[in-house]
Amino acid sequence: MSQWNTLNVQHEKIKDRAISDLFEIPDRAHDFAAQAGDMYFDFSKTNIDGKTLKTLIALARDMDVEARRDAMFAGARINETEDRAVLHTALRNMDGGPVMLDGVNVMDEVQATLKSMRSFAEQVRNGTYTDIINIGIGGSDLGPAMAVAAMAPYHDGPRCHFVSNIDGADIADKLRGLDAKTTLVIVASKSFTTVETMTNARTARAWMLDHGGDPKRQFAALSTSAEKTADFGIDPAHVFGFQDWVGGRYSVWGPIGLSLMIAIGPKAFDAFLRGAQAMDTHFRAAKLEENMPVLLALVGIWHNQICGYATRAVLPYDERLNLLPSYLQQLEMESNGKGVVRSGADSPHHTGPVVWGAAGTNGQHAFYQLIHQGTRVIPCEFLLAAQGHEAELAHHHQLLVANCLAQSKALMQGQNLEKARAIATGQGYTGDELERQARHRVFPGNRPSTTLIYPLLDPFTLGQIIALYEHRVFVEGVILDIISFDQWGVELGKELATSLQPIVEGTQESTVEDPSTATLINFIHRHRD
Ligand code: F6P
Repeated sequence: MSQWNTLNVQHEKIKDRAISDLFEIPDRAHDFAAQAGDMYFDFSKTNIDGKTLKTLIALARDMDVEARRDAMFAGARINETEDRAVLHTALRNMDGGPVMLDGVNVMDEVQATLKSMRSFAEQVRNGTYTDIINIGIGGSDLGPAMAVAAMAPYHDGPRCHFVSNIDGADIADKLRGLDAKTTLVIVASKSFTTVETMTNARTARAWMLDHGGDPKRQFAALSTSAEKTADFGIDPAHVFGFQDWVGGRYSVWGPIGLSLMIAIGPKAFDAFLRGAQAMDTHFRAAKLEENMPVLLALVGIWHNQICGYATRAVLPYDERLNLLPSYLQQLEMESNGKGVVRSGADSPHHTGPVVWGAAGTNGQHAFYQLIHQGTRVIPCEFLLAAQGHEAELAHHHQLLVANCLAQSKALMQGQNLEKARAIATGQGYTGDELERQARHRVFPGNRPSTTLIYPLLDPFTLGQIIALYEHRVFVEGVILDIISFDQWGVELGKELATSLQPIVEGTQESTVEDPSTATLINFIHRHRD
C-alpha cells in the first residue's frame, strides 16, 4: 500500500478522535514539536499521532525530499519548465563555501553585489534623503514591504514607501506629501518589463521632473536586465543586478531587499541574512523527524491533502507581521498552486491550499467566529514572540500572549453542550428556550492548530521565519511532485490585458467575442465621460 493510501486509511480511523485525548500519551507536547536555534514549533494540537507521523515521514522519504533538497542547494536545474537553477540560498550563504553553477562560483558575484549594495545603502542613509519609494509588484514588492514593516523597531534610515498596483490611486496617494528633491525611487523588477512597475516608474519619473528632482541621481534599479535598466536611463552605478536563478518570490535576500537594507542598515541586514542561513543549515542537517520545515510541510500535507481542509489561516500575534499572510499568499500559492505534476500528468491530489489570515488580536474580532463555530475546519498557524519591543508596554504583550494561547486552546477543547447550558442558565434562560440558546453557545472544538514561537522579532528571527516558510513550500512541492518555481498560471491574464487595453481605451474596434466582457466594456465606455 502506498504511503498516501496508508494515510487515508489512518485518517478514516481517527477522524472523530478528540485531539485533546492524544495528550494522555506522556510527552506528546514535547514529541510533537521541533526546535531550530531558539525557535520552537509546536504541532501537538493536531490530530497527528505517532503512527501518522511515521507514515508522513516515510512519504517524505519515498518522494526523495532529502536528495531533492541537496540538489537544490547544489544548483541543479530544478525549475524544469524554465530550465533554471534555484539558488536564492546562495544570497544568504554568508560564510559558507563556494556555490558552483556551470563551473562558476556564483558567490563571487553575490558578494560583490552585496558589497556595492552596502556602500549605496550607507550613502543613502547618510545623505539628504528623507524618503524612499520602492516600485515593484509580486516578489519585487511583497518581501521587502513585509520585512520593512516587520523591522520597524530597527528603522534608522529614511522612511520607506511601497507602490505596486497599476491603479493610479496607489502611486498618487504615496507621492502626495513627498518632497521630490529628497526622495529616492527604487525600481524593483527582475524582468524590468512588468507593466505595473514600468508604468508606475514612468509616472514617478515625470513627477520628479515636474517637482524639481533629478531622476538621473535619484533613481536606482534592481533587476536581472542591465540592458533594460540602461534603456530606462538609470545610472549603471545605481543598478544592482541578480541572476535568473533567484525566483521573484524568493528574492528579498539580494538586491530586491535594498529598501530593507536602507531602512535598517547593512549590519542589521546581515543579521537578517544570517537568520535565514541558520535555517538553511538546520534544513540541510537535521534529520527529517526533527526538521522544522519538513514537519511544517508534513502537517500541511496531512491537513490539506489527507483531511481535505482546503484553506489555512496564518495568524501572527505580532502586529508587525501583519503583511506576512499576503507575503505567504504569493510564496505558497504561486509556488504550489499547480494542476499537473512534473511529468505533465494531472496531479492526483489537490495541490496548494488557500492561504489567508491577519494579525491577532484583530482577526479575533472579525473572522474567528467562523473558525470556531463555522462548518468548515480551518487549520490555524499561530506565530508568537515571547517578548515585544515595547518594554514600557509589557502588559500589552502579556495580553497578546494570553490571547494567542487562549485561541489555540479554545480551538482544541471547544465547549460542550453541558457547559453551554450552564452559561445559558446563568444568563436567565429556562425550559425550551434554554436548550435553544445553549446550542448557539456550543463550540465543536477539535480544530487543529500549530504555534511557532520565538524570543523576539529581530532581524535574525525574521530571516529564520521567511527561510522556514520557503523550505516548507519546497518540501510540500516535492511531496506533491510539482514544480514550485515556475508561475505559468499568471501569463494568460497578462496577455489578455494587453490585447484588451486598446479596446478599453477606445483606440481599437472591439473584437471581444464573449458577451459578458463586451457588455462590461460598453458600460465603461458609456460612463467614462
Ligand atoms: O506575475 C507574476 C510575477 O512574475 C511574479 O512571479 C513576480 O514576483 C512578479 O510578477 C514581478 O515580476 P518582476 O520582478 O519581473 O517585475
